[in-house]
Amino acid sequence: MVNLSEVKGTSRENRTAAHTHIKGLGLRSDGTAETAGNGFVGQTAAREACGVVVDLIRAKKMSGRAVLLAGGPGTGKTALALAVSQELGTKVPFCPIVGSEVYSTEVKKTEALMENFRRAIGLRVREMKEVYEGEVTELVPEEAENPLGGYGKTISHLILTLKSAKGTKKLRLDPSIYEAVQKERVAQGDVIYIEANTGACKRVGRSDAYATEFDLEAEEYVPVPKGDVHKKKEIVQDVTLHDLDIANARPQGGQDVMSMMGQLMKPKKTEITDKLRGEINKVVSRYIDQGIAELVPGVLFIDEVHMLDMECFTYLNRALESPISPIVILASNRGTTLIRGTQDITAAHGVPSDLLARLLIIPTHPYNPSEIQTIIRLRAKTEGLTISESALEKVAQHGVKVSLRYALQLLTPSSILAKVNGRQSIEPADVEECEDLFIDAKRSAQIVESADGAFIA
Ligand SMILES: Nc1ncnc2c1ncn2[C@@H]1O[C@H](COP(=O)(O)OP(=O)(O)OP(=O)(O)O)[C@@H](O)[C@H]1O
Ligand SMILES: [Mg+2]
Repeated sequence: MVNLSEVKGTSRENRTAAHTHIKGLGLRSDGTAETAGNGFVGQTAAREACGVVVDLIRAKKMSGRAVLLAGGPGTGKTALALAVSQELGTKVPFCPIVGSEVYSTEVKKTEALMENFRRAIGLRVREMKEVYEGEVTELVPEEAENPLGGYGKTISHLILTLKSAKGTKKLRLDPSIYEAVQKERVAQGDVIYIEANTGACKRVGRSDAYATEFDLEAEEYVPVPKGDVHKKKEIVQDVTLHDLDIANARPQGGQDVMSMMGQLMKPKKTEITDKLRGEINKVVSRYIDQGIAELVPGVLFIDEVHMLDMECFTYLNRALESPISPIVILASNRGTTLIRGTQDITAAHGVPSDLLARLLIIPTHPYNPSEIQTIIRLRAKTEGLTISESALEKVAQHGVKVSLRYALQLLTPSSILAKVNGRQSIEPADVEECEDLFIDAKRSAQIVESADGAFIA
């Protein structure tokens, strides 16, 4: 029996598999780009521009603005956006979507856009909570006869002793807390805290009294907490507005922030209405006024933005003007094209001129042969392939003649052919064989032209 409830979606991670070699923008501390750094090669002006965007986001000066990455296919637009998210770190929300994702038969497209906008706006909540915190020195479930009769025993209480720097406290807790404790896999010698009001339990780490001399360990060792066991403690939580929407779509539990957050763990599909969003915005702004919460505008990245239609663009314009808005990064590889949803209006990048006018546009340029070679070398290394210099040159030539993408895509099949041919490293012959097996777009088009009648028109 497969336990589906434990399965986490990975769709967001898969998309970046082609960019695993990119680790950041590769900028020096003065903001200038190294020729090659963090897996990024060339495209220095665009990288520096993205660095400025990152600084503006960190300084919270960027909300409600939009940036467009514009350039031909395979010039690193998606890679740049990914690098921006890596520079921002995990505390700033980054929500990547592709323009075509907003079309669904179940959800209105503006609704889908709105949802993603809210995924890109973070909220850092600080709350003073009454907690019991310390190192677990005793953890004993107390059993009792099953009150409903029958065999077996039930847990009636949990006896938990916590030790802090100032003293120890023995607690007799409700069985529901025992479940929370088990979920966190708490054992003797761990440092934990339990919230007095909600009974939520959090494992902080292993007490450093138990630290071993091994260097390589997954365990995080923490000191025994200072102060009393029973105390007030500031707890910081990072959530997005969308998390709050979901958590409250079917409210249960208390009205405090933490119990809203407790529900984040149980994903479920419920309808989020405009009314609910309005309510949440009100609560959020109250928290912000009271100094409990702080807004963290993140990034909404819309790749292939020309896939949006007129209606979406109008919505975007308006959403960018709302007081809480993330920074929006758009990317497009189109020149002048028809705007989707119109009959005859064309515009640069397929973006209407009124939206274009408010964008900061960062151009990306095609790579020169030596940059292409460096990128291919990097990619081969990331994929764990060995390739001879002459074969590398051959692949790079394709990068120049056809496209960087085509060249990168030749790598894996070439390595398989090399193995079939009994070689450890890729040689020019393997690349050659591969070119014949997998043709590029231009050659394919030629075949279509010349094989008049063989294809269905
Ligand atoms: N400057 C670079 N340094 C290293 N790798 C790069 C660089 N530019 C692009 N790449 C890699 O080349 C491939 C194509 O780049 P990417 O997907 O970012 O292009 P794109 O501009 O988004 O193209 P498209 O318009 O077709 O979506 C990716 O695997 C990317 O990681
Ligand atoms: Mg792209």
